[in-house]
Amino acid sequence: MENTLVLVKPDGVERGLCGEIITRFEKRGLRVVGLKLLILSSEQAERHYQEHVGKPFFERLLYYITSGPIVAMVIRGNEAVKIVRTMMGPTNPVNAPPGTIRGDYATTMERNIVHGSDGIESAEREIKIFFEQNEVFI
Ligand code: RTP
Ligand code: MG
Repeated sequence: MENTLVLVKPDGVERGLCGEIITRFEKRGLRVVGLKLLILSSEQAERHYQEHVGKPFFERLLYYITSGPIVAMVIRGNEAVKIVRTMMGPTNPVNAPPGTIRGDYATTMERNIVHGSDGIESAEREIKIFFEQNEVFI
C-alpha cells in the first residue's frame, strides 16, 4: 500500500469541488486516511514546491497556492501515487482528457484544481509538511 498527498487547490475549494474530488478517489477504491482545511503560509508553500523555487512561474504559483483555503488529504491504496496522478490528468488542463479531474474541471495551468505527489519519495516528504504522524489513520 502507498500513501500520497493530494491538495484541492484554492480554486477547487472556492468552486465547491472538494466533495466531488474526494468521491472520485473513494469510488476508485482509494481511502482518505488524513484530511484538513488550511491556508498555506508562504514558508510551507516554498517547502512544498521546493523543486520549483527560482523558476519563472514560481512567484505566481506561490501567490495562487496561498490565496485561500485548501484541502489537504492523504490518500492510501495500491499504487496510490500513480493512480492519483492518472486520475488528475496532465499539469496543463488543455491536454487533460475528459474523465480526468483537470480534464473535467479546469482550463488553465495556473488554476489546475488539484495537486498529487509525483513519486513515493515526494509523497513521504510532502505528507510531513501537512500532517503530524498522529493525524494519519492507516
Ligand atoms: P502539482 O505539483 O501542483 O500537482 O502539479 P504537477 O506535478 O502536475 O506540475 P509541476 O510541474 O509540479 O508544477 C507545479 C505547478 O506549477 C504550475 N506550473 N506552471 N507556467 C508554467 O510553465 C508552469 N509549470 C507549472 C502549475 O500550477 C503546476 O500545477
Ligand atoms: Mg508537481
